[in-house]
Amino acid sequence: MASKMKKVLVLPGDNIGPEIIAEAVKVLNKVNQQFDLGIVLDYAHLGGAALDAVGEPCPQETLDKARASDAILLGAVGGPQWDNVERHLRPEKGLLTIRSKLELFGNLRPAIMYPQLAHASSLKPEFVSGLDILIVRELVGGIYFGEPRGIRILENGEREGYNTYKYSESEILRIGRMAFEAAMVRGKRLCSVDKSNVLEATMLWREVMNELAADYPEVELSHMYVDNAAMQLVMRPKQFDVIVTGNMFGDILSDTAAMLTGSIGMLPSASLDKKGGGMYEPCHGSAPDIAGQGVANPLATILSVAMMLRYSLDAADAADAIEKAVSDVLDQGLRTGDIYTDGMTRVGTVAMGDAVVAAL
Ligand code: IPM
Ligand code: MG
Repeated sequence: MASKMKKVLVLPGDNIGPEIIAEAVKVLNKVNQQFDLGIVLDYAHLGGAALDAVGEPCPQETLDKARASDAILLGAVGGPQWDNVERHLRPEKGLLTIRSKLELFGNLRPAIMYPQLAHASSLKPEFVSGLDILIVRELVGGIYFGEPRGIRILENGEREGYNTYKYSESEILRIGRMAFEAAMVRGKRLCSVDKSNVLEATMLWREVMNELAADYPEVELSHMYVDNAAMQLVMRPKQFDVIVTGNMFGDILSDTAAMLTGSIGMLPSASLDKKGGGMYEPCHGSAPDIAGQGVANPLATILSVAMMLRYSLDAADAADAIEKAVSDVLDQGLRTGDIYTDGMTRVGTVAMGDAVVAAL
């Protein structure tokens, strides 16, 4: 049965971005054909690549194409090549702009321990085996976007950098709902992370989460200060089911959670708007230090394709197949450098991508 056409916009980005995207696209093409998904790909620039091509990190053409797509697949942006460009032109600004313009407020970052990788984690296997955490990070508000912001000259002549940390009730409500809904289909435990012993913005955050809890009586809501959460994540990570937090805390805690699983090279993410449309990208960055060497781990991006199929393209079967194929190649002992341990077979980016396609 022919399915309705679905458009996916691919944004390779910078440094290892194009390398990992090439593998993810191979995998996407394979399931597209196997499951007759009717997916059509288009490409555009974001980040440093866009800056070099057209002089701005998030061109209007990219936004227009993104709005006309059912989902977006992104590699990674940034790198030292653009360290000296003006602040408003930085590649990261391109990423923040597309997230914000498309109102991708809900960032889902699952940290799942593949049993095959228990020895690649820096924590002892008994602390991380079976780990399955979902971090729900607010992505278009908080201190990342608060105004006023800038670097100014004070009356005494010295410079001062300043940002604004704020969250409105409606912003907290929408990310809170997404997190409670996510908890409902998982372990029904939600931990809201804040710094409400110090920051007013997060005092309101905690209040609103408590109010929302009344709508989800089955979910057990708890609260944790962010410093304690950072400690608990490395001390007893398996206590968590779903974590919900603001933009900056979520940025930091999701890197920590990633490493528990062995490598940030394994972590996919979904950034969703209120209609379930979204952008899918690995949690890791553009890794300029290994760009061009063909050694980057493409699995986080390949797993992001699986999330895209599940959340935005209504193709859960294809998503399951990709996740199974990734597990199979790990069973075969194939490892990129970031997840390599003694006795395994070290492979590069392309060979890893090919192995996933072959396992499908
Ligand atoms: C992430 C990244 C981005 C962020 C950077 C590249 C702007 O660290 O997606 O976690 O801080 O959100
Ligand atoms: Mg980050």
